[in-house]
Amino acid sequence: MLLDDEQPASPGSLTAEEIAEYAVTAAVWAPSVHNTQPWRFTAAGQQISLHADAARQLRVADPDGREMMISCGAALFTARLALRSLDFVPQTTVLPDPGQPLLVARVSWGRRAARTELEQRLFGQVRQRRTHRSGFDVVPLPPGLLAALREGAARYGAVLRIVADDGRRAALAAAVQQAEQAQRLDGERVAELARWAPAPGSARADGVPPESYPARPEHTDPDFPGRDFAHGHGWGLPPLSTAPWPRSAGVAALLTTAHDGPVDWINAGQALQRILLTASTGGAAAALHTQPLEFGWLRESIRTGLSDGAYPQLVLRFGMVIQAAASVRRPPDDVLSTGSSEDS
Ligand SMILES: Cc1cc2nc3c(=O)[nH]c(=O)nc-3n(C[C@H](O)[C@H](O)[C@H](O)COP(=O)(O)O)c2cc1C
Repeated sequence: MLLDDEQPASPGSLTAEEIAEYAVTAAVWAPSVHNTQPWRFTAAGQQISLHADAARQLRVADPDGREMMISCGAALFTARLALRSLDFVPQTTVLPDPGQPLLVARVSWGRRAARTELEQRLFGQVRQRRTHRSGFDVVPLPPGLLAALREGAARYGAVLRIVADDGRRAALAAAVQQAEQAQRLDGERVAELARWAPAPGSARADGVPPESYPARPEHTDPDFPGRDFAHGHGWGLPPLSTAPWPRSAGVAALLTTAHDGPVDWINAGQALQRILLTASTGGAAAALHTQPLEFGWLRESIRTGLSDGAYPQLVLRFGMVIQAAASVRRPPDDVLSTGSSEDS
């Protein structure tokens, strides 16, 4: 098997099984809600099938499987990008079988065309990119980056709406604060989050490890509170510096879709991963705040008040920062079955 995102010297000599392993080895590094990694893959011939793993769905916070499907969409984008890095042209069918709603997509390959420099740069960020969970340096984003992020979303029928107006940005931050308060008072939600927040030193290869969030929340104005992964244990990364310095909330944005079904969620996930990797190529980081979208009343108020009636799928903040976060993943062998022509 090829290691991580190591690129083979001559892709032409790889077997179909090796190509599938290569694509899945990259795909597992997609972002997923609470790092649940709610996916599994089957490969047969020159085709990979991506399935949502409902056993990893957040039953309390995500009863419809919306965030599960967004996560799978991010993995789908990453698998396709990995195939492009080998100069293959992926042929993708999203939700190919109405009888199998958990079959997210089939991806096959055969035809070849040289990868672009941009595809290569995006692929180079798959392992480097990390979710950010603090404030940002008071430094502007590189010129042209937001336009590139918006263009990335549009490729998947999604819209990245920059929430630039101070009042609207404060309203979005207030929704995150309200959701965070409501979440912390709800025993079932607290218990579910705790199941995906392992203790320091845990050998788990999923969930949000303490090396990926700050021990002490860093407040910004307006404040976008993070999730309480440490649940009172004081876990998390120590501050990089003890000196207080001005921190920014960054550029707030909403990723929205015109409709709100599984295909829209999968495409929002594809758009999300393209956006995150594009930001990473520009040296920018992104924070994700889906807390308010997990409460129907807050999601609806964001939809009507801040996104012109379009369905909010993710709340994001972008900014410049040096990151210290680490993350974990299950090995590709745990999620890939090869040589099987069965879809389910
Ligand atoms: C649908 C979705 C929702 C997410 N929501 C949040 C969130 O509310 N807060 C947060 O800190 N991270 C959120 N994340 C980021 C995941 O926690 C992160 O992708 C995962 O822990 C893996 O870490 P990595 O992105 O650094 O590889 C979300 C990711 C996805 C795909």
